[in-house]
Amino acid sequence: MDEPVTPAFADLVVTNRAAIDELLRTRRTQTNEVGRAAILALMLSDASKRAKRPLAWIDLGASGGLNLNTDHFRIEYKVGERVLTTGPANAGLTLQCEVRSGSPDIAPAHPPVSWRVGIDRAPIDVTNAAEARWLQACLWPSQPERQARLTTAIEIANRMPPRLIAAEAVDGLANAMAQVPADTALVVTTSWVWFYLPEPTRQAVLAMMAASDRRVRWYSLEAAGVVNELGYEGEPSVIDSVVGRVELGGGEPIEAAVLGRSHPHGAWLEWC
Ligand SMILES: C[S@@+](CC[C@H](N)C(=O)[O-])C[C@H]1O[C@@H](n2cnc3c(N)ncnc32)[C@H](O)[C@@H]1O
Repeated sequence: MDEPVTPAFADLVVTNRAAIDELLRTRRTQTNEVGRAAILALMLSDASKRAKRPLAWIDLGASGGLNLNTDHFRIEYKVGERVLTTGPANAGLTLQCEVRSGSPDIAPAHPPVSWRVGIDRAPIDVTNAAEARWLQACLWPSQPERQARLTTAIEIANRMPPRLIAAEAVDGLANAMAQVPADTALVVTTSWVWFYLPEPTRQAVLAMMAASDRRVRWYSLEAAGVVNELGYEGEPSVIDSVVGRVELGGGEPIEAAVLGRSHPHGAWLEWC
């Protein structure tokens, strides 16, 4: 049933018509969910354990790049009655994630990340106050906890600005992969991005990683059923996310694993 427009909203639109027209012409909905850092941290930890070398991290579809500061956040994982933490005790931002099943390896410190970059076709420069406000404006007003962690993550990014490449996925990945330092293990992450890529773009991204002469560890946090390579057999969902790892390139066969299932914003996790 259609709800009537409230007089306050109608008044806001009529009074600000020119500014709203301008926003509709020039902006796209753009979000950057920092709660996902609770899952990204476990991905970095898993990659570090497997590679045993400092990581080079490419976050594809990074938006404002706020999650590239994951290893500067403190994360509290509630596992049964216990709380296991990772990250610096004096971090400016603390995230909480409830581990509902399984035992992810939660180390007290984040692994070393010696190089990192984000790629986005429409990156948000969060050091520009108007751009940062757009990210804040795209959050639902009924979720003050998301607004609070976004605001804090923006403040942290103003002190430690993420490096972002403005490019479409395929060009951006080619550019970034060409810069990865030799003595690192390459990790590529996508969180709620694969969903948006057309099939030919997905195939081109996969082909580029598969053709790399180094091993590429691609970790995805995407709606259940979206990443075909994971062979996920559970129920598809447009809300709950599947945490996956696909290793490819380096002249070795592709290996894929479903690592878990999580809340889309990292509030809970079921680890395999
Ligand atoms: C839902 S947001 C997720 C952002 C971030 N990964 C997170 O978890 O908060 C999806 C992002 O993917 C980017 N994106 C979508 N299609 C893209 C493409 N073809 N190439 C590069 N970036 C793309 C969008 O601009 C947007 O920033």
